[in-house]
Amino acid sequence: MPYTLENFCDDCRATYDPATGNADLEEVRVHLESLLENQEFLQEHCGPDAEIGAHTLYTDDERGFIVLAHIMENGRTSPPHDHGASWAIYGQATKFTDMTEYDRQDDGSEQDKAKVEKTRKYRLEPGMAGIFGAHEIHSIHFPDNARFIRVTGTDLSTIETLAYNMDEGSVKVIPPSADGLGAGQASAD
Ligand SMILES: [Fe+2]
Repeated sequence: MPYTLENFCDDCRATYDPATGNADLEEVRVHLESLLENQEFLQEHCGPDAEIGAHTLYTDDERGFIVLAHIMENGRTSPPHDHGASWAIYGQATKFTDMTEYDRQDDGSEQDKAKVEKTRKYRLEPGMAGIFGAHEIHSIHFPDNARFIRVTGTDLSTIETLAYNMDEGSVKVIPPSADGLGAGQASAD
């Protein structure tokens, strides 16, 4: 029996610790790699006929996590940013995504200023999944026609996030979007 989207969502729910309300991100990551072995699932949601854009496959109203399929036409390199209090787990379907992690070096005492440094970079090939934890600074790079499944802990359009500019040494607060359809969720970053 193939491991289905329904199996994956059930298993995601089961990783939440009732005492803390937190998901076990490594368990979710491993379950996502199992889902990426399901060729029927990949064909349906990330295959040649999938429509360009971001598609919500599942929303868990109780715990808040969301499963999305990102079907990208054009490649992109995002600036370093975080997802505020939300985590995100990326699972590659086609092409690749380069995942870069950063550490903040300054103490935050100067308003709008920030210094970040790269600490780790790795490439997700098809079938692989990678984690960005809450408040973890990261960037992604993918080529044209990359397709991936992304699981976020929260609807990113509803929370405040931070975007960094390494050339300027600056940081900017990105507020939640009023319409609930903000770039945070529709964007693949
Ligand atoms: Fe991101």
